[in-house]
This record gives sequence, structure tokens and C-alpha cells, in this order.
Amino acid sequence: MSASTHPDVMEKLVSLCKRRGFIFQSSEIYGGTGSVWDYGPLGVELKKNIKDRWWNSMVRLRDDIEGIDAAILMHPRVWEASGHVSGFTDPLVDCRNCRKRFRADDAKIKGVPGQPDAQCPACGMKGTLSEPRMFNLMFRTFMGPVEDTASTVYLRPETAQGIFVNFVNVQQSTRQKVPFGIAQIGKAFRNEITPGNFIFRTREFEQMEMQFFVDPDSDHMEWFEYWRAERMKWHEALGLDSSRLQFHPHGADELAHYARAAVDIEFDFGGSLGFQEVEGVHHRGDFDLGRHQEFSGKKLEYFDQPANRRYVPFVVETSIGADRATLAVLVNSYREEEVPGETEGRTVLGFHPSLAPIKAGIFPLVKKDGMPEMAHRVANDLRREFPVFYDESGAIGRRYRRQDEVGTPYCITIDGQSTEDSTVTIRDRDTLEQTRVSADSLATVIRERIAGS
Ligand code: GAP
Repeated sequence: MSASTHPDVMEKLVSLCKRRGFIFQSSEIYGGTGSVWDYGPLGVELKKNIKDRWWNSMVRLRDDIEGIDAAILMHPRVWEASGHVSGFTDPLVDCRNCRKRFRADDAKIKGVPGQPDAQCPACGMKGTLSEPRMFNLMFRTFMGPVEDTASTVYLRPETAQGIFVNFVNVQQSTRQKVPFGIAQIGKAFRNEITPGNFIFRTREFEQMEMQFFVDPDSDHMEWFEYWRAERMKWHEALGLDSSRLQFHPHGADELAHYARAAVDIEFDFGGSLGFQEVEGVHHRGDFDLGRHQEFSGKKLEYFDQPANRRYVPFVVETSIGADRATLAVLVNSYREEEVPGETEGRTVLGFHPSLAPIKAGIFPLVKKDGMPEMAHRVANDLRREFPVFYDESGAIGRRYRRQDEVGTPYCITIDGQSTEDSTVTIRDRDTLEQTRVSADSLATVIRERIAGS
């Protein structure tokens, strides 16, 4: 992590997200559930737009990647094979006084946990912190009516394993040839000890993962380099400021024991959070397929017919959190600015238009003279192609501000001239420029502006 020159906007974002219906605390009326969040009407659209962009670029626009949707609950042996039962742990210490829990390496702990001089960062008591013990981050539950160990199952802590166990099913049903990939988007669960920073680290989240299977005798590092570059381009195309993006290559001490190479794509979240991982690109060798082969007793090989060769492919993985990407987009888009000629400033979520939950606000200038009727007609026309929002309440300036704050890129006003010559004005969220266009051409104008931005 490195320090940021960008301001910390997290508190303001949390408040805006609640007020405008992007993100709410889960079970808020019961006091909330720790680090679990619900997406409201605008948040669900924003996150869906981000997931759609990922799915389109990784699956729809390529002929060498297939999509799947594997179940969250998997055979418990999967997690033994993957190493999660034995190794997906964090060192944890408890305070005997205030009962709070911390990661043993939490920088806020003064002294050595378990020793009399160690001080609890929450209640400040000395000598109350336990010795570190390993804590497994997987959520455990029971399948079937009998709560015995035979029926223990886990909520998946990553979506990747659903891809590995389906490698042969997908390859044989699609007749894909190596190199090819399998992608999926889905929920993952981790009982994080130190979650926080809004939706940055949560206990329930969504991952967008892709496993790319390559010949171990080919130049597989080239694929690692390829995916590293491709994924960075995707983040830039989301509209994330390139000066806020960087690679963090893993050194030998950071690499997972099975990884041959790994790099994080980091985004600068501002303030003290600074640059943090949004996505990981990992060269996992044949670790996962090899382990599942060993634990299941089933061959997970690829048969290269022309070369008459059988092998377990190597895997280059790209793994990004949908919620963390959503947070990066929100942070990147948030700005407060003066408006020329106006005393009140404005708050803007400057989303890339393709990500904006609402594409156009539709406003009759006044609630009479046929303007609301025409505005409804315009809104109903556009709604077939884009999410739009009809608003006739309050001064026009306020209506603009309300749409700026939720990132709506275009506002359409129906005024006195509109009912006479069937033209409307379209205002651009960022330049504030207003142009008059014919009402009939609106869908085309908006479509072209989104595509061109
Ligand atoms: N299959 C590899 C894997 O799961 P990871 O680095 O543990 O790798 C990948 O996770 C991505 O998932 C991270 O870069 C992050 O975006 C997201 N992620 C992981 N834990 C998360 C959490 N507790 N809350 C939100 N997102 C998380």
C-alpha cells in the first residue's frame, strides 16, 4: 500500500449511497449485520452494469472463454483439495476484557499478544489479549437434517473451485481446445476478522473470476503477461483514472505456495486507504487441477489430439471483486464542484455513461401547457431502451442537481418550444452544455453519446 494524494471521500459516499438508494446496511432496522451490505434500486443497476461489462468482455466478445454458474454449496472434499480447510486461516487474538477480536498482526496492537504488556486497541487494557490462534475464514453450515460432521458444508470462499471441478464437463461439452478459459460471476463468503471500509472488505461479496487453461509445455508466462495487460485495459475502459491504477507484482515472500507468479491491480481509494488490490492475476500452475485429480480420483486432463498428448493444463486466473470494483467506480466518480454563475455548488457522480444507473432525467419545464404529457411520451419512448427517470417536482436547477448526484449523464427538458416544434433540450452532466434536438432523434442521440464517451 502507498499513500494517496486523493482526499478520503468514504464517509460522504456512505451517506450519499444511503440517501439516494445505492447501498444500505444489511438488516439496518435490527442494528445492522457486521460488514454485510444491501444494494438499493440505483446500486443494483450500477453493480449490474459493471458485471455486464465484465461478462461481455470476458465471455460474449470472445470465442475462447465459456461462462458457467456453479453452485455455492460444493462437496466438502473440494475445500480439502483446494487447501482451504487447512490453510485458509488468519491469526486471531481475543481481548478477555472487551471480547473484541483482532488479527494478530493488527498494527494498532501495542506489544506482543499473549504477553502482559500487550495492549488491547479497543478497550486499552493491558495483558488481556490472548495468544494468537489460527482462525478459518470459511463459513460452515450443515446439509440435511442431521448436524453431524458427515454433513458439514462450507459457503464457498471463492468461485474459482466451481470452475476447476467443471473443467472436463465444460471442455468436453463445448469441444474447446487449450488454450481456453471458463468464467463465472457469483457470491463468495469469508468470515473476515477485520472487514470494513464500506463495501471494500465484506463477509458476503461477489467475485468475477476466469480460469484460463494453457499447455504447460507452451510459453505459459506469455499468457500471464497477456491477461495482466488485458485486465488493466478493462479497468481503464471503466473510466477509472489511469493515475489511480497501478500494478503490484507479488514478491517471492507474498506468493501463495502454489503460485508461479501473481500481480495485483490496485486502485487508489484515497485518504489513508490509498492504493489497494481490486483484482489479482495469478499463475496457478497445475496446482488446482492436480489436487482435485488426487482427491477425487478422476482424471482432469486435456487430450491434445493432433499431438496425441495428454496433460493437466496450467492455469492463469483473473479474479476481481464486483463490490470492490463498484466501490472503485464510486470513489473515482465522486466530486464536489462550483457551478459557474450559481452560488450553490454541486455533487456529481461522474460515472462513465454506460455504467450510470439512470441514463436520462426527463423534465417538463412547468406542470402545464401540455409539457408533462409530452415529457411522459418522451420518457415512455426512451424507457424501452434506457433506464430513465421522470421528474416534474421543484425548480429545474434542483432537478438537475438531483440527477448530477446520482450520475445521470443526460437531462432532457421539455419546454414551451417543445410542444410547438417537437424539439427538446439535452443537457450534458459534465460540460453542462445544452443542445436542442428533435424529440424523435433522442434515442439515437443518447445511444451515440454513450457509445462515443
Ligand atoms: N480465486 C482467487 C481469489 O479468490 P483473492 O485475492 O482472495 O483471490 C480476489 O480475491 C478478489 O476478490 C480481490 O481482489 C477482491 O477484489 C475480492 N475480495 C476478496 N475478499 C473480499 C472481501 N472480503 N470483500 C470484498 N471483496 C473481496
